[in-house]
Amino acid sequence: MLTIPQFLDFPMDPDTKDIVSFFLKLLEKKNKDLFLHCQQVANYAVCTAVKMGLSVDEIAQIKTAALLHDIGQLSVPNAVLIKYPYFNVRERAAYRRHCQMGASMMENISDLDRVAKIILHHHENWNGTGYPKRLKGVNIPIGSRIIAVCNYYDRKCKPCIRNWQRLGARPVQTIKDNAGILFDPDVVRAFFAAVVQEKSSRQNKLSGIARA
Ligand SMILES: [Fe+2]
Repeated sequence: MLTIPQFLDFPMDPDTKDIVSFFLKLLEKKNKDLFLHCQQVANYAVCTAVKMGLSVDEIAQIKTAALLHDIGQLSVPNAVLIKYPYFNVRERAAYRRHCQMGASMMENISDLDRVAKIILHHHENWNGTGYPKRLKGVNIPIGSRIIAVCNYYDRKCKPCIRNWQRLGARPVQTIKDNAGILFDPDVVRAFFAAVVQEKSSRQNKLSGIARA
């Protein structure tokens, strides 16, 4: 697992820091898998944002948004979340509201307005077919575009568990195929360089050591 560079925390009011830690604790208590998913997405998002050459302040905002991106799912019962992605119509509508719920939770918290915007738009698609606002292209905040790719990768590939072996490289190819359709092509390029290639070169090194 990649590690989050902790020095990237942006200056926050101490109350805001406490609120963020409280939300993360709440998420961990409610659903450990979801909490770990958010941690992993934050790891990938930071690596991708660094590769894209974003400013330290932007990277720190993206890291916080990635850690909290699914916080709105606190309002969705675990009995529904466990059925992902096989929801009925009512469950899908409840699930899809998590972007607005998450952003609403951040209202009026100092320093978190940009984070709230990233959370609100993390399920938008590059071609305007996403939700909740059907934003298109660069109208989608860069942090949301980055989280969209990292979220897809972690949801579909789960490289740290056995699903990775079952699903193989297909979801990785799907991300490539959807560059310019669902995902920002620049983000996809940076994500592959920062996460996928980095991971496979480390695996090759490890298997080289094992063979030696
Ligand atoms: Fe989400």
